[in-house]
Amino acid sequence: MKQYSKRMVVIHWLTLIMVILAWYLGDSLDEARHEKSATLIGYLAHAMVGGIVLLMTVFRWIFRGVDGTPPPVGNSMMDLAAKGVHHLLYLLLFLLPATGFMTILASGVGMALLAGDASMLPTKYTGPGILPHTAHEILMNVLIVAVVVHVLGAIKHQFIMKNGLMERMSLRRK
Ligand code: HEM
Ligand code: HEM
Repeated sequence: MKQYSKRMVVIHWLTLIMVILAWYLGDSLDEARHEKSATLIGYLAHAMVGGIVLLMTVFRWIFRGVDGTPPPVGNSMMDLAAKGVHHLLYLLLFLLPATGFMTILASGVGMALLAGDASMLPTKYTGPGILPHTAHEILMNVLIVAVVVHVLGAIKHQFIMKNGLMERMSLRRK
């Protein structure tokens, strides 16, 4: 096997799109909350996109086991680090949505959604909602750093080492 399976490739690129969308929606939500203009639809849209990321990650992990992965590029420290970053990315793709759900459950957002009343939305997280919300924010920043390192690695393989690594994540079959 020289390339990731087609379904792994499709989920990889769909995840990129959905994570960017979830990031944008989450940031807009945070801004709206500070301006006291957050809406229930805003929370639902963000939760739905983030939930899709979680669902895709669960399937991706199963497909990974069933379809397998291409062999490691090498055994250098850098290759091991790249593998570590891949595992960190999977962990973050589980933990980010998980802490998002926990924020809703532990804060007034859950009650507001159940009651269908936007006036019950919190303008500031207090009590048990603080911890998952802070974790969600921190994990987002860790994800940004991990993705930057991951993309720099891909660029190095593609343009400096020129070993065609990107083909492994391409739908064009060799
Ligand atoms: C990969 C998936 C996700 C990403 C990238 C993401 C990203 C973000 C970002 C960037 C923020 C703004 C952080 C801040 O408050 O400064 C945020 C806030 C939030 N997210 Fe997510 N999120 C994801 C999944 C979820 C899920 C699945 C849920 C719930 C089911 C969720 C619920 C929330 C809530 C309640 C907030 C707080 C908004 C506010 O009141 O300020 N997130 N998210
Ligand atoms: C422009 C952005 C991106 C590029 C160019 C890119 C490129 C690649 C390439 C070439 C591989 C295969 C590496 C190998 O075979 O050793 C890969 C794997 C991977 N990528 Fe990305 N990627 C991008 C964005 C992302 C994002 C946003 C995430 C997650 C948030 C992500 C998560 C992963 C994971 C977890 C793997 C390992 C797959 C596995 O072994 O199961 N990537 N990426």
